Amino acid sequence: MKILLLGSGGRESAFAWKLSQSPKCEQLYIAPGNAGTGQYGTNVDLKVTDSDGIKQFAVENGINMVLVGPEEPLVKGIHDDFLADERTKHIPVIGPQAEGAQLEGSKDFSKQFMNRHNIPAATSRTFTPGTLQEGLEYLPKAGLPVVLKADGLAAGKGVLICTTLEEAQDELVQMLSHAKFGAASSKVVVERFLQGIELSVFVLTDGNSYKVLPSAKDYKRVGEGDTGLNTGGMGSVSPVPFADEKFLKKVEERVIIPTIEGLKKDNIPYKGFIFIGLMNCYGDPYMIEYNCRMGDPETESVLPRIESDLVDLLIGVAEGTLHEKELKISDKTAATVMMVAGGYPGKYLRDKVMTGMENIRDSLVFHAGTYQDEDGDIRTSGGRVIAITSLQDGMFAALQQATADASRIYYDGMYFRKDIGFDLL
Ligand code: AMP
Ligand code: GLY
Repeated sequence: MKILLLGSGGRESAFAWKLSQSPKCEQLYIAPGNAGTGQYGTNVDLKVTDSDGIKQFAVENGINMVLVGPEEPLVKGIHDDFLADERTKHIPVIGPQAEGAQLEGSKDFSKQFMNRHNIPAATSRTFTPGTLQEGLEYLPKAGLPVVLKADGLAAGKGVLICTTLEEAQDELVQMLSHAKFGAASSKVVVERFLQGIELSVFVLTDGNSYKVLPSAKDYKRVGEGDTGLNTGGMGSVSPVPFADEKFLKKVEERVIIPTIEGLKKDNIPYKGFIFIGLMNCYGDPYMIEYNCRMGDPETESVLPRIESDLVDLLIGVAEGTLHEKELKISDKTAATVMMVAGGYPGKYLRDKVMTGMENIRDSLVFHAGTYQDEDGDIRTSGGRVIAITSLQDGMFAALQQATADASRIYYDGMYFRKDIGFDLL
């Protein structure tokens, strides 16, 4: 079949790598892709939010399936756009319609969903500019630290953890009255702080049945020892040693099953990935957030552990036959080190020539922010430049290999964390 993958990050490179291995994948297109995705298929110069252009491309090229990598097109309704068009309504889109994507697109929607279906989560209340005063009065009762979340998509920046009441009050005013995060903070969820250790669990669903994919842990802070500014993610590991069988059973019973059943009860169709961000609080799972897609850089560690044919699983999602498919997961450990541009996550260097890829010994290389210039050189274009993933027997070997291979790549301003996963050994 002919598959169109949307996105341009390390996640999409990992998807392209995995999809292209399938005998069922006759042709793969990636829009817009990056210098790495071009090894596995054909890059197409279209923006992920250009629904009309993407539909036109799908029609002209006989696309049989669309896989959406990032959240923005889903929240904006690309799946709905395909369904509303006579020319494209028969083409399966992997990724929910706009209503299901609200699980990520609106923190208030997702909190209401969790509460309605008894899914364990921090107690919270939602405030608007009209109820700012009530919000300010509620804050002293919420305990400290307190978490303030802009309701809408805010490029991963809309969550503030405030350690003093004054800071929380000031931020609530900034968000509600001064649009600190634009329209995204026209509603704010005020939530209790959860103490524990974070992990991500991924589910693939056809709306009826589901498969639990490998879990992963992401490292969000830019500095070693989890210090410094938040980033999109500096590395990941899978599996997560502290998410043992007993804990994952609780996740399935308390979170995954109620989520799938809840979507059905609410008549929300959902075909695609559900990213469940969890806190392990002394052995019990509590929801932090849903995302309507896979994580980046979690995907880079999750997909190499899936031994089954991903295209076949996605066909199961499209056709509602996921329960008939087998999901085989490797016992090996995958570790991903994200190499970033100098200055990231602030203003960062770009257009730097990258060398040394041929020296990688035993890792997968997933391009994220790269492009190929007229001379054929690979150059940097994004903050997160390239992900190095190693799949090995055991965590130590995977971490050591990924870190060693990352150091074989060079570009001006190159940086990566050398401590990804070492806290878990
Ligand atoms: P979110 O965008 O909801 O994933 O939040 C971003 C980050 O803020 C999460 O990855 C957590 O590290 C942190 N966070 C969010 N909600 C809470 C909470 N209730 N308690 C503690 N940390 C949280
Ligand atoms: N790595 C976190 C995310 O993809 O949202």
